[in-house]
Amino acid sequence: MDKFVIEGGAPLHGVIPTSGSKNSALPALAAALLTEDKVVLKRVPRVRDIRTMERLLTDIGSYITVEGERVTLETPVIVSPEAPYELVKTMRASSLVLGPLVARAGRARVSLPGGCAIGARPINQHLSGLELLGAKISQEHGYVEAVAAGGLKGTRIVFDRITVTGTEDILMAAVLAEGETIIENAAREPEVVDLSNLLIKMGAKIEGAGTSVIRIEGVAKLRGAEHEIIADRIEAGTYVIAAAITGGDVTITGCVADHLGALTVKLAKAGVRVVQPDETTLHVLPGSVIHAVDMSTEEYPGFATDLQAQYMALMTQADGISIVKETIFENRFMHAQELMRMGANIRLEGREAIVAGRSRLSGAGVIASDLRASASLVLAALVAKGETVIDRVYHIDRGYENIEGKLAAVGANIRRVE
Ligand code: EPZ
Repeated sequence: MDKFVIEGGAPLHGVIPTSGSKNSALPALAAALLTEDKVVLKRVPRVRDIRTMERLLTDIGSYITVEGERVTLETPVIVSPEAPYELVKTMRASSLVLGPLVARAGRARVSLPGGCAIGARPINQHLSGLELLGAKISQEHGYVEAVAAGGLKGTRIVFDRITVTGTEDILMAAVLAEGETIIENAAREPEVVDLSNLLIKMGAKIEGAGTSVIRIEGVAKLRGAEHEIIADRIEAGTYVIAAAITGGDVTITGCVADHLGALTVKLAKAGVRVVQPDETTLHVLPGSVIHAVDMSTEEYPGFATDLQAQYMALMTQADGISIVKETIFENRFMHAQELMRMGANIRLEGREAIVAGRSRLSGAGVIASDLRASASLVLAALVAKGETVIDRVYHIDRGYENIEGKLAAVGANIRRVE
């Protein structure tokens, strides 16, 4: 298993380019199942989760050509409308094939995701949405089966709680349903909007993506399309925090600055200067003191749960006590234990972490757990005294394209060892 060896202490200086969004590319890849025509996706990040999705789609019946960040998909026939356990257990976003398979093939058999490091992560909202659209849902042997032999019928769906991939799954089912579907309490994430833009290019009739109410008029068929995936706001946000924690001077290019409003406003309160030369660039300037500022994760446009671990690492360097609250997942503080091993002073109380800064972090041997927890350990290692060895970096490879190359290019002392 690969490890990262990081020598802390160097402030970062230079330019970091942003890759395409993993969490937008995943539903976009699944959307290709909705048509027999060719779909071309550009700016697809070459990360593990994307390769897992490409393998799953190939097993389902897609012919996929990968040329760097350009992925071409053609699915003339759905050969096997299934997502087997061995794939789903490595990536729960496999549930994104549910909606497209029921819509295109009239049935889907998907392994229940099972828990993951950050929580139970059920897909009950996805299933109740499909049921309302007319699918018959059954569960056995750890698999869920959705059947709609006569096709899906549009209806009104109100999610009990906001779910990003649940919204995306139902959106992809509704575009081929008969009649109108209204999705209420929909997720407003930019990735939902990006998916909607792709579906509209494919001929779907959708209004309101990005708001809590999405209206879809079903169509009989969808055609192929060409689409460039939006920038990864979580990757960009991670590098903004990397610059802040090292007191560096870093320009993050190719991002959508507007998608990081909650982060940049919060950082400004913490005394971190982030300027926005244009809408695709964020420039983090060397700061003075980092102030302790409380943060609570919320659905978009609130502070992203996927940046919570990274923010907690930053707060270990703040000049006081801050409270970091995780409202989206029930167990997303695994990074806290590892940060404490590096010298951080954190107390966990249910959904809240009380972070007492400023801690002098020292390098240690730590273990990555989930994708974003691992990123926060990299950030802590950049500012820790001495050498940190992070094990199981395959977690990081799931969602960050060439993180060690991007960081080394701005002066970080980081290397990957087999
Ligand atoms: C998406 O996961 C992202 N993944 C996650 O990013 C992100 O953390 C999450 O949204 C929240 O922003 C992708 O887009 C591929 P949810 P998703 O459904 O859709 C509960 C990363 O690091 N829930 O919005 O699975 C659920 O348990 C990943 O890139 C139900 O109860 O998240 C959670 O507590 C990690 N029933 C909350 O809702 C359901 O049917 C939000 O989950 C669905 C979800």
